[in-house]
Amino acid sequence: MSPEEFRAAAHQVVDWMADYLRDVREYPVLANPEPGALIDRLPAHGPETGEPMAAILDDFQKLIVPGLTHWNHPRFFAFFSITASGPGILGEMLSSVLNVQHMLWKASPAATELEQVTLGWLREWLKLPPEYFGLIHDTASTASMHAILAARELAAPEARISGEHPPLILYKSEHAHNSIDKGAVVVGVGAANIRHIATDSDFRMRPEALEASIEQDLAAGKKPFCVVATMGTTAMTSADPLEAILRIAGKHGLWVHVDAAYGGPAALLEELRPMFNGIEQADSMVLNPHKWLFTPFDLSILYTRRPEILRRSLALSEVPAYLRVAQHERALNYSEYTLPLGRRFRSLKLWFVLRYYGREGIVRVLREHVRLAQSLAGWIREDRRFELSAPVVFSLVCFRYKGSDQENRALFEQINASGEAFLSSTELNGKFVLRWAIGNMGTTEQDVRETWEMIRSFV
Ligand SMILES: Cc1ncc(COP(=O)(O)O)c(C=O)c1O
Repeated sequence: MSPEEFRAAAHQVVDWMADYLRDVREYPVLANPEPGALIDRLPAHGPETGEPMAAILDDFQKLIVPGLTHWNHPRFFAFFSITASGPGILGEMLSSVLNVQHMLWKASPAATELEQVTLGWLREWLKLPPEYFGLIHDTASTASMHAILAARELAAPEARISGEHPPLILYKSEHAHNSIDKGAVVVGVGAANIRHIATDSDFRMRPEALEASIEQDLAAGKKPFCVVATMGTTAMTSADPLEAILRIAGKHGLWVHVDAAYGGPAALLEELRPMFNGIEQADSMVLNPHKWLFTPFDLSILYTRRPEILRRSLALSEVPAYLRVAQHERALNYSEYTLPLGRRFRSLKLWFVLRYYGREGIVRVLREHVRLAQSLAGWIREDRRFELSAPVVFSLVCFRYKGSDQENRALFEQINASGEAFLSSTELNGKFVLRWAIGNMGTTEQDVRETWEMIRSFV
């Protein structure tokens, strides 16, 4: 592709992008094709000879876009509502053009140092301790797997060499994300050695149940090694009692990993920061700017107080010659701390977001999302036909129609078939529950109000 052809196509693409961001509300938020529809419409074999860009872009618009669910739509209220913000998208575009891969400092010094600076700014805004070392992963699943690996390294360093270790036990609440279980399985903990600790009526881990479980395992000759506290569980965004968990973990010398993949940015809000009290004693924490920090997917941050243990957990007796570099105290080689060698230049888009909005701008939007969720909860309480199914801690509202599961399922299908809004569902206390997440920068009070009125009109 010549520079001239690239320029012309890029202008076209950027025009399409700007139109998309302007008109995104006009798309049905949820795609509803028959399974296999796109496969049937695309050629079964790849083109033998190249095709013109115009034809590719045309098919993108006619065939691909209609089959997409629009995650950047202000009425996308399912799973976790997210935002690819303008500055974040621009940062992503530039990182693609540069194609930088900064496995080592020398492989691209500024990419490495920008990651350090950006995560340092965010660490300060979140009021995390200065000794927290940060690094970027693709997803929280990967980040948490590394935290569990480091926890294993601390508890049973022999495992890295011999592959053998005593029965290590990991604790998480029954509502913690299953990425923790997957991470533990990958690290060799064994699914049978994961304890799903009971929660209270607000879906928070019960500290006394944690303590009892640890005692029981110790009595059985097992080796408790890690507790995961969740700040913003996936189903209902409950926040575990961090200080109590840290106290118990401290007594037994366990690694505490905080899964704040969704809830982490709430630490930027003074009124929610107390929930995170004690975090400076946690060993590691994950938060996802691609969830509630307006950064295009993907970008997940792992902070740890014990970078040396993390590095040791991946240390090998021999480093291949091409990765051996002169050590310099200011030259950080991030790949020594991660399973993947190659590293995308993800910090660029986060830097764009942090600079463009500033701390104040970000706080304003987060606070507005929390306010919208509280308003919605108030409207739900006022309508006697509905009930809230969980406390509204951050910006997620779980609710149901006071009727059978079948009626709630029918309501759920009707909302999502409308094309006007997209909600997801969960099961709480054995009942089918509607889940309404607020987290897109473009979502307004009118979006929430009109969607709520639409739902009321369906029952
Ligand atoms: C609390 C929590 N942890 C971890 C994850 C996994 O996130 P990721 O998709 O970044 O792996 C999620 C996903 O929603 C989550 O809600």
